[in-house]
Amino acid sequence: MDADTSPLAAPPKDPAGPAAPGAAPAVIAGPSAGAKPRLFLTRRIPDPGLALIRDAFDVTGGEEDRPLEREALLRGAAGTDVLLCLLTETIDGAVMDAAGPSLRVISNMAVGVDNIDVAAATARGILVTNTPGVLTDATADLAWALIMSGARRVVEGDRMVREGRFQRWSPFMLLGHDLAGATLGIVGMGRIGQAVARRGLGWDMKVIYTRRSGPLAAGDIPVGARWEHRESLDDLLREADIVSLHVPLTPDTRHLIGARELALMKPGSYLVNTARGPVVDEDALVAALRSGPLGGAGLDVYEREPELAAGLADLPNATLLPHLGSATVETRGRMAELAALNAIAAMRGEPVPHPVNPEVLT
Ligand code: DGY
Repeated sequence: MDADTSPLAAPPKDPAGPAAPGAAPAVIAGPSAGAKPRLFLTRRIPDPGLALIRDAFDVTGGEEDRPLEREALLRGAAGTDVLLCLLTETIDGAVMDAAGPSLRVISNMAVGVDNIDVAAATARGILVTNTPGVLTDATADLAWALIMSGARRVVEGDRMVREGRFQRWSPFMLLGHDLAGATLGIVGMGRIGQAVARRGLGWDMKVIYTRRSGPLAAGDIPVGARWEHRESLDDLLREADIVSLHVPLTPDTRHLIGARELALMKPGSYLVNTARGPVVDEDALVAALRSGPLGGAGLDVYEREPELAAGLADLPNATLLPHLGSATVETRGRMAELAALNAIAAMRGEPVPHPVNPEVLT
């Protein structure tokens, strides 16, 4: 996804991170004086976010760390002012209606907001917020863990040793490919895409990228970096040794990488997805991993998460992680804190750090 208008153009920002840097802060009218506003927490979150919301709100829910059943979500949301949710909950119009007219803010502890029907929220005048920025480095690191794993067959090697199949060193055993000097293709050169590209400087990689809003300004490219914009995703796929996806899931990016796109990739190349599963047609990916041209794939997200496409788990050339992109102690703490600060600011009528649909405030 590149070129601003084409579904094959990569957008300029992290999955669903809508607030452009420097955008004017948004405000929502504060609650009436008196009791604390009510907040329904769909699932347990870490401190300092938890402590912040307990201080500012009358909090219900969030006792357990597991996805909430739909019925419990509908019941819990009823009569609340704020819903603080995670990507494991689908927040659609029915949930908003179950919450009723008191619902003012939906604060997602994630940068991606594809679990929320933002249009339905906007139509009801409900502010949606998210947590971009704080998970950039953690996600970029994990994309690199997948790149390294694929290039040097780390997981296959680990499995061989554990299963007692390692006999002795062999000149042909589990040969990977050099990363030094390879071409890294970034689909979606937003915050996370750029962080992945910056890490490629250590391997002197040429980086080619698509970006919905066109080439980066010269000042945004690190000194000495070989970063080149590509107008079309097809050109990037034909040229890159490693393709890493960093686009939000939207109707335009669903199955952005399908059988046609996979067929364009270089023989032996490697696909990494730390964005959202449905950006890739997973059945087509399984076919391409079986019979080429792909050499391998590293996935942190899945089309029907947590289910896997038939045959994917049997493929030795796929490294499969359980959606760990932001899974560090520090990052999850910052995400929870930012989700809390978004909700608190919105209910106090203060500037909201990361509104997704700031138009409801006007
Ligand atoms: C997000 O914030 O969207 C991530 O997928 C969570 O890891």
